[in-house]
Amino acid sequence: MSHVVVPSRLPGTAVERLRAVHDVTYRDEDVPLPAQELSELVAGAHALVVTLGQRVDAALLDAAGPGLRVVANVAVGYDNVDLDACRERGVTVTNTPGVLTDATADIAFALVLMVTRRLAEAEREVRSGEAPPWGTFHLLGTSVQGKTIGILGPGSIGLATAHRARAFGMRVLLSGRSEPDPAAVRRLEARVVPFEELLAEADVLSVHTPLTPATRHLLDAAALARMKPSAVLVNTARGPVVDEAALAAALEAGTLAGAGLDVFEDEPRVHPGLLERDDVVLLPHIGSATIETRTAMADLAADNVLAVLAGRAPLTPVP
Ligand code: GLV
Ligand code: GLV
Repeated sequence: MSHVVVPSRLPGTAVERLRAVHDVTYRDEDVPLPAQELSELVAGAHALVVTLGQRVDAALLDAAGPGLRVVANVAVGYDNVDLDACRERGVTVTNTPGVLTDATADIAFALVLMVTRRLAEAEREVRSGEAPPWGTFHLLGTSVQGKTIGILGPGSIGLATAHRARAFGMRVLLSGRSEPDPAAVRRLEARVVPFEELLAEADVLSVHTPLTPATRHLLDAAALARMKPSAVLVNTARGPVVDEAALAAALEAGTLAGAGLDVFEDEPRVHPGLLERDDVVLLPHIGSATIETRTAMADLAADNVLAVLAGRAPLTPVP
């Protein structure tokens, strides 16, 4: 029997399944623990099941101690985990790819529609009780049909977002570090283009790249300046890929038309220059937030822990 620490609430039966085999310390609360308390909770753990609000660094690994074998991140992104520190200590790291692809792509395209059709602004207006009578020029947005979506990071979520965009009559451009699956490129009738061309041609630029040292502030002031003034930026990946201050400045200067953001540089804080704008739609990092998806994520994390502790290969180790 090994010791598994689950420091925040999980949906479904993941915790029960872990408890059937192992000694589980479960903190049944949906807010991350402060680092100091987390360090105390993890002492002696063989496995940790963490969410993206929990930073897994050398100090936390050392607090867990030399018995630690696996860190299962309940997220596809794993920028909250120091992979080098895990590798040095022989700790396996797993994530939850695949199970959240559709839910996240749905939110990405929802943001496209919310920004281009001014849906949040329109909803606020009705709620305020101050909606004027129907007017030909009232709350005019722009159509997505016939426009170009640029997918930055054509992995599975980027391609699933492109698939939705095709169904809405958009052209698809793809750009990223990795070569997209050729069958998907054909199916989407997409073109694979360099980053500079993606910036210049996209009417909607949707960010799907993981956060790495190479992608931090990839969309900085210089990159944003290459986009069309009529273009819209959507980010459902990780906040720090976009320089928020530069984004607020570009919107203020009118060199970009709008933004839809589910992620921020310093969550849950949002740059004040974005908070005050009607051409920005803000969501609180809910890309994977459906009961089905979060349950599947928790199950996959538990299955990874069960596999590693049983001496088997994890299902979804991070590359
Ligand atoms: C959520 O942001 C995830 O990476 O799964
Ligand atoms: C990331 O940049 C990717 O190509 O998926």
